[in-house]
Amino acid sequence: MDSGKLLILVATMTGTALMAAEDIAEYCNENNLDTDIIEIDNADVDILINANNPVLICSSTYGQGDVPDSAQDFYNKLKELSPDLSHIRYALFGLGDMTYRDTFAYGGKKFSDLLDSLNATKIGDPFYHDASDGSLPEEVALEWFTKNIKEQL
Ligand SMILES: Cc1cc2nc3c(=O)[nH]c(=O)nc-3n(C[C@H](O)[C@H](O)[C@H](O)COP(=O)(O)O)c2cc1C
Repeated sequence: MDSGKLLILVATMTGTALMAAEDIAEYCNENNLDTDIIEIDNADVDILINANNPVLICSSTYGQGDVPDSAQDFYNKLKELSPDLSHIRYALFGLGDMTYRDTFAYGGKKFSDLLDSLNATKIGDPFYHDASDGSLPEEVALEWFTKNIKEQL
C-alpha cells in the first residue's frame, strides 16, 4: 500500500456501512495507510472530482434498490454533472439483503455503474454483502479488503 491516502465515502442509513468502513480504516491506519472517512451526506461531489487518492465507497441499499436517502443528493448531483472521473481509482463495498432479491445491493451497484460511466477505474471486484446470510458485514468487508484490494492501492 503506497498510495498516500485512502478516501472512504460512506452511504448508510442505519450505520452498518459505516462500521465496515471504520474497521477497514482501522486496519489501514495500523498498516501505514492514512484514511479519511467521510459520510456522503456531509460531502460535496467536488470531493470526488478533486480526489487524487484512491477511493473506497461503502454503500447500503434502501427503498426499492436505491442509494440511502442520505446519499441521494450526492448521487443525483454526480449524475447530473457527469464529470470525467478518469483520474479516479475506486473500490466498492456494497450492502444489501437477498430478501430484496430483485434489487439486491442496487445502492452499491448504482454507484459502481455511475462511476464506471464517468470513466473511473475499478480496483478489484466490488463485493456485495448479504445481510440475510448471517455473516458480519465488518468482518466480511475487512477480509475482502485485505485479500483483494489493499495490494492494488
Ligand atoms: C426499508 C429497507 C429497504 C431496503 N431495501 C433494500 C433493497 O432494495 N435491496 C437490498 O439489497 N437491500 C435492502 N435493504 C437492506 C439494507 O441495505 C441492509 O440491511 C444494509 O446492511 C443496511 O446497511 P446500513 O445500516 O449501512 O444502511 C433494505 C433495508 C430496509 C430497512
